[in-house]
Amino acid sequence: MGEFEMNEDHIREQFPILREKVGNWPLVYLDNAATSQKPVSVLDTYRSYYTAINANVHRGIHTLSQEATEEMEKARGKVQRFVNAKQAHEIVFTKGTTEGINLLAYAFSSQVKKGDEIVISYLEHHSNIVPWQLLCERTGAVLKIIPIDENGILQLDFLDKYLGEKTRIVSVNHVSNALGVINPIREVIRKAREKSPAYVVVDGAQSVPHFDIDVQALDCDFFVFSGHKMYAPMGTGVVYGKEQALRGLSPFHGGGEMISTCSFEKTTYADLPFKFEAGTPNVGGNIALGAAIDFMEKIGKKNIQKHEKSLLIYAEKKLLEIENLVIYAEKAPRVGVVSFNIENAGISSDVGMILDKMGIAVRTGHHCTQPIMRFFGIAGTVRASFALYNTKEEVDILVEGLKKARKMLS
Ligand code: ALA
Repeated sequence: MGEFEMNEDHIREQFPILREKVGNWPLVYLDNAATSQKPVSVLDTYRSYYTAINANVHRGIHTLSQEATEEMEKARGKVQRFVNAKQAHEIVFTKGTTEGINLLAYAFSSQVKKGDEIVISYLEHHSNIVPWQLLCERTGAVLKIIPIDENGILQLDFLDKYLGEKTRIVSVNHVSNALGVINPIREVIRKAREKSPAYVVVDGAQSVPHFDIDVQALDCDFFVFSGHKMYAPMGTGVVYGKEQALRGLSPFHGGGEMISTCSFEKTTYADLPFKFEAGTPNVGGNIALGAAIDFMEKIGKKNIQKHEKSLLIYAEKKLLEIENLVIYAEKAPRVGVVSFNIENAGISSDVGMILDKMGIAVRTGHHCTQPIMRFFGIAGTVRASFALYNTKEEVDILVEGLKKARKMLS
């Protein structure tokens, strides 16, 4: 038995927000795929940055600036270790996954030309669709979409067909935010390597909170994720890039910190990772991201994964006892996410509103994945997504809430 399972209460105590009430109801927070709650260690780290060492980084000779710089670079080192990147300068801080993918799609502009192909999938969040569409508009490149089957599983024979000399980029998520489906990302990367010269981008926003990531073992060129879904503050995120892949990219934002020399005639750029970090970064947030990594490592990703898996199995069993409840991608391998509808019981937001009245927080609607909803012929789903602090009792409360909602809406 893992340390975590023995200390469920202790874990929950570390998340002050879990003691909050919604109206008269205890909060049951099941919207972790949207954002996770933050433990005391992360909150304290963030606060103590601003109360003790707040200063701009890489810019000052004074003590505070040096301390802030040192702490932020320490956090970069923690991220490096956390995803097993070879070098700390392969870690670029961003404000989240969306900015990370936009950074890449923009920075690729000079390498992509008319007729080139970019491969994504039906399972992508809009933030892994629109930046590539914009790149296609700028360059004349063409987007190819890997389809899914009725279980939400990628149809990789289409990837085989699409890959070729013209493929410049393959960008696929590791885990679908809307359905929780775990994609066969190693196979996607292997195929891309075998059959094309493409760079491979992995959107890891929904996988990093749940299982171990080893970017060297994956052999992806880029791996992008957010801090706020893994117990760190909002406005934090990371683009990991293999050194050679990062070096080949043009800068994204221009500004201070990203230059080596600047004159009106010619500007040269700073070395990695600073070339991609124009402007004052989220120093306190990045340091707190380091604290979130410490927190997760202390509990152990294996324990987190095991706990969330047991919640998923339990939730599926209980939810399917509800009449007319349909779980999407039920047969696919998934993280702790259940996306469902109750047939003939209003639309997903009706269900969500009733649950909210009982203190239960879930996400409803299209989850920024309209193509998936269109594929299933629905407007949206109710999505319950679990984190390490959720419990089976909370699943029971959700199930009871849904039974009431079904009665009210049928
Ligand atoms: N991408 C986040 C979600 O799936 C916001 O809810």
